[in-house]
This record gives sequence, structure tokens and C-alpha cells, in this order.
Amino acid sequence: MSSEHKRVEILWPDGQRSVSHKGEDWLVAARQAGVHVPTGCMGGSCGACEIDVDGTTVRACISTVPAPASGPLKVELATDPYW
Ligand code: FES
Repeated sequence: MSSEHKRVEILWPDGQRSVSHKGEDWLVAARQAGVHVPTGCMGGSCGACEIDVDGTTVRACISTVPAPASGPLKVELATDPYW
């Protein structure tokens, strides 16, 4: 198995877990988990898609799933999805 496709467990804000792999687009990983990440420009400039990954804010539309240091990656949505 290639390290390029390292299996990554993701823990979403609603407590749901999903399995993705290193290098997957965040928006694809979220969609596979049934999690809606809001988007705007899709080019990295508006910030609508920001999520927190293990405490680091990333723009989901231009970022991919990193290899976790240990355990599942913990994702928080930067904006409240329930309003
Ligand atoms: S959708 Fe605009 S920064 Fe990601």
C-alpha cells in the first residue's frame, strides 16, 4: 500500500467519523462524510469554506487532508452550520 494513500480517520463536528486518505480534497472528504462545508469562490480567496483541522484553520477548497500526527483528525467548522 502506497504511503500516498495513507488511510486517515476524520472526526467531524457532529461526532461522525469517516475514513479518507492523505491528499484527498477536504471538500470531497466532507461530502463523503455527509458534512456540508459552505463554499464561495472555490479559489482560496473568500474564506467561506474555512474549517479548523486539529486547531489549524485551513481553506477547504484549496487544501487536502494531511497525514495525522496520531489518532483521527479533529475537524471543526469555522462557521456555525445550523443557522
Ligand atoms: S470557497 Fe472561497 S476560500 Fe474556499
